[in-house]
Amino acid sequence: MDTKTHEIADGIFRFSTFVPDITPAGFTFNQFLIRAAEPLLFHTGPRAMFPLISEAVSKVMPISELRWLTFGHVEADECGSMNQWLAAAPKCKIAHGGIGVMVSLNDMADRPPRALNNGEVLDLGDHKVRHIDTPHVPHGWEARVLFDETTQTLLCGDLFTHTGDGPPLTSGDIVGPTKSAEEIFHSSCLTPVTGQTIRGLAELDPKVLAIMHGSSFNGDAPQALRELADLYDELLRQAS
Ligand SMILES: [Fe+2]
Ligand SMILES: [Fe+2]
Repeated sequence: MDTKTHEIADGIFRFSTFVPDITPAGFTFNQFLIRAAEPLLFHTGPRAMFPLISEAVSKVMPISELRWLTFGHVEADECGSMNQWLAAAPKCKIAHGGIGVMVSLNDMADRPPRALNNGEVLDLGDHKVRHIDTPHVPHGWEARVLFDETTQTLLCGDLFTHTGDGPPLTSGDIVGPTKSAEEIFHSSCLTPVTGQTIRGLAELDPKVLAIMHGSSFNGDAPQALRELADLYDELLRQAS
């Protein structure tokens, strides 16, 4: 395994590790670094991948200078190595929504995390990022996304999860591959507010979607989000 690095928006780096034996097409695990006066990492990767991912990040910036550690929700691929990162970066702090901090991170993190209010903006210096709570979307009570207002990049975690080792950035169809992956994993919570929550993200008018599993997207992102919302509404209708 190796970790590939690609700048998907100005100052936003994607680190991608392809694991061939998850699904017939294989599966990527991606982390995103916002290089700024206060550098921020979104997703830590699981503990076993820490040596690989930290080496890749260290080619962009010294990891000891990281200031913020963030992730979409509390699962091993999103945050399994958080304490390894905290140990390697003494000034670094975890930031997450209040639910995640209260339910899990106050206990799991080796240093006290910062609880963010819904809509709160972190000023990183060269970038400003907005925290948005999305409970149970795509899964997990503490689920959230992060919107980089500077580049209009939506760090959308497991939303648009798809298989394969595609290009770092695509403007092709991502809703079709997302539907296929949903048929394999059934990983999304189908609730009456799933579609509505995703339509709310479309209103941010993102230009780039930073996707945790699969290619990132720089086509018509608001339209892709609306189509994803319609897909989940339809799946919920079929299920009920
Ligand atoms: Fe997840
Ligand atoms: Fe994930």
